[in-house]
Amino acid sequence: MESVAAVQIPPSQARQDTQFAGPISQGRRDPLDRLIVALDFPSSQAALAFVDRLEGTCRWFKVGMELYYAAGNSIVERLRERGFEVFLDLKLHDIPNTVAGAVRSVAGAGASLLTIHAGGGEHMMRAAVHAASGPNAPRLLAVTILTSMNAAELSGVGVVDTPAAQVLRLAQLARTAGIDGLVCSAQEVAALGQVMGPDALLVVPGIRPIGSDVGDQSRVATPAEAIACGASMLVVGRPITQAGDPARAAAAILAEIGDAN
Ligand code: C5P
Repeated sequence: MESVAAVQIPPSQARQDTQFAGPISQGRRDPLDRLIVALDFPSSQAALAFVDRLEGTCRWFKVGMELYYAAGNSIVERLRERGFEVFLDLKLHDIPNTVAGAVRSVAGAGASLLTIHAGGGEHMMRAAVHAASGPNAPRLLAVTILTSMNAAELSGVGVVDTPAAQVLRLAQLARTAGIDGLVCSAQEVAALGQVMGPDALLVVPGIRPIGSDVGDQSRVATPAEAIACGASMLVVGRPITQAGDPARAAAAILAEIGDAN
């Protein structure tokens, strides 16, 4: 495995973020800016009805492929009109020119964060960074290896390294390309924080409060554990969306985040 300590990022490659004066800041520790609720719903109506049930307890929402392909930029705009921040989890992966165009197409809607696949390569990531350099463009997060890919699956697509080594390689590539942060598991977050540097955003899904159903997630952590490991922000879906009282479930997670700060 490559040495984490050997990674040197030339200052000229660091993203200039003077345009981003929003709530994402490593200096701020407001729990409201560290919890992202995953809106895994099939329509705008279902998503917005759920948002209403949260009664203003949360500030950030994740719009993934299911909802975005059904609703498009309008769901992002409607969440923004209501004063929320949006993490657009589209995991872009195509040739550099097409990914740059996709970044420009979604940038106007007002998402604060957007994901791309690090596996698309350095040129693709640099093209995305360039396309996201405008005043209201989203900050970019790279997805390294999907948590659904184990060693056998990686081998099946020709990757001979272990998943951990491949995650590290792709994280280093993302950092070199000027990407702002990563989506990663709580188990990876401490090591990847060293690769990405102190200003990186490390966004961690697979969060399960004590006593909640693990479901199909395999590498889970509690909110407090993930924060203690160095997560900047947590993505939580079903522990909130499937709760009998979602506002109460969200408030409990926010309190746990606050206590862990
Ligand atoms: O319901 P749950 O809390 O498991 O939802 C987690 C959310 O984070 C889902 O929207 C899922 O797609 C997303 N996600 C994940 N693991 C990753 C990347 C994204 O669970 N590695």
